[in-house]
Amino acid sequence: MPRPKNAGASMDRARPLDRQKAHEIQAFGHLTRLPIALSESTASQSVENLNQVLADTFTLRDLYKKHHWQVAGPTFYQLHLLYDKHYEEQNELVDTLAERIQMLGGLTLAMAPDIAETTIIPRAPKGREEVPAQISRLLHAHEIILKEARTMARLAAESGDDGTNDLLVSDLIRLNEKQVWFLSEHVVDVPLVRAD
Ligand SMILES: [Fe+2]
Repeated sequence: MPRPKNAGASMDRARPLDRQKAHEIQAFGHLTRLPIALSESTASQSVENLNQVLADTFTLRDLYKKHHWQVAGPTFYQLHLLYDKHYEEQNELVDTLAERIQMLGGLTLAMAPDIAETTIIPRAPKGREEVPAQISRLLHAHEIILKEARTMARLAAESGDDGTNDLLVSDLIRLNEKQVWFLSEHVVDVPLVRAD
């Protein structure tokens, strides 16, 4: 059978071009300008702050999954579900923060080792903790995030970055405050069966 014309070229075109390497197109910490009518210094300040709160949100998100898996005791089922709900909500927030960083021309942190060296939330043990300790650890992480986010929101508003201010206030601060409420009610010491 005659070999079709260009048979060699067609076969080459079907071969995946894997194992390619190239230079980075944007270095971490370098800002690329987008036409969004914000000064470079404003965008740069917001990117730096958003990457900090992103690293802390990643960490809080993962703390929820750890506790979702490791929770024990009579409230196992409700906390197993609640922790996962909060995990999903924090996960959505991670994406919102990361995409805001990109739309400001910045570069988002993404990988676990980079998150670990940036977060200011204390490292959790690998071992399993009791429910009150789990909840206290989560509440502490929420409070760290709320404190820094309020400062960052104020800075964003003062420098004219209303989009970042709105994200921090409407999405991040309000979600964290709500999750703190849901958690806190689990460590109120009220009788389970017999009233005092
Ligand atoms: Fe699960």
